[in-house]
Amino acid sequence: MKGVLLAGGTAKRLRPLTNVTNKHLLPVYNKPMIYYPLETLIKAGIKDILIVTGGEHIEDFFRLLGSGNEWGARFKYTIQEGSTGTAAALLLAEDFVGDEEFMVVLGDNVVSENVEKFVREFKIKKDGSKAKILIAKVKDPQNYGVVTFRGNKIKEIIEKPKKPKSSYVNTGLWMFLPEVFDLLKTLKKSPRGEYEITDALSFYAKRGQLSYAILRSAWTDAGTLESLYRATVLMKKIDDQRKKKGK
Ligand code: DAU
Repeated sequence: MKGVLLAGGTAKRLRPLTNVTNKHLLPVYNKPMIYYPLETLIKAGIKDILIVTGGEHIEDFFRLLGSGNEWGARFKYTIQEGSTGTAAALLLAEDFVGDEEFMVVLGDNVVSENVEKFVREFKIKKDGSKAKILIAKVKDPQNYGVVTFRGNKIKEIIEKPKKPKSSYVNTGLWMFLPEVFDLLKTLKKSPRGEYEITDALSFYAKRGQLSYAILRSAWTDAGTLESLYRATVLMKKIDDQRKKKGK
C-alpha cells in the first residue's frame, strides 16, 4: 500500500504564522507538524510516500525530510500550483499510486493511535467498500466535515454545518482504491471554491460503499490557531505520559 501526504494550500487561517512559511513546517510541541502524519503512515507500515506541497516551500520540505532514508522510507515530492483543494492535490498522485490501494493523510492531522489495524481491514475488504475513512468524536464538530449514519453505514458527510447532526467528524485519514482518480476528475468546485475529497467520500457514502472506523485515542487537526495550540498541548501530554511510563 502506498501513502499520499497532502501538505499544500495557503493556510490563511494561520496568518501571520504562515506569511513566510508553509503551515506543515510549523512546530507542534517538539516537532514540525508534518512529522506527525508522516509517522502515522510509517507506523502503519506504509513506506512509499508522496508528499504534495506548494512550489514556494518545496526546498524546505526536502531539506527537512530528504529521501526518506533516515525514516526507513522512500519519499517523493510533487508540486501543487495554487490552493485548488484536497481533491486537486490528490489527483497529482495518480501516476505515483499506479494500480495499488493507498492511504491519504492530510498534513495537518495529528493522531496518537497506530492505524495499522485499519489499513489491514481495508486490504481484506470483506464488505465491498471502495473507500474507508477514519472518524473521531469531537466537541466542536461544526469546524469539520460532520458524519451522519444510517444504520451501521455512513449516510453523508456535511462540510462544516452550522447545526451538526452528530459529534463524529471526518478526520483527514482515508484509504482508497486507485479507481477513485476517475471519480476525482468528475468533481465540481465546492461552495468554498475548491475541489474537495469530501465530495468523493460523499459519493461513495450515498452508494453504501464507504466503510469507516472510529479513532479511539487522541486526534486533532492543527489548521487554526486554536487547533494548533490544542495539538501542541495534546502531544506534550502524550509525551509526558510516555516518559512517566519510562518508554
Ligand atoms: O482535518 C479534518 C478536516 O479536513 C475534515 O473534517 C474536513 O472534512 C476536510 O474538508 C478538511 O477540512 P479543512 O478545512 O481543515 O481543510 P483544509 O483546506 O485546511 O486542508 C487540509 C489539508 O489539506 C491541509 O493541511 C493541506 C491540504 N491541502 C489543502 C488544500 C486546500 C492541500 O494539499 N492542497 C489544497 O489546495
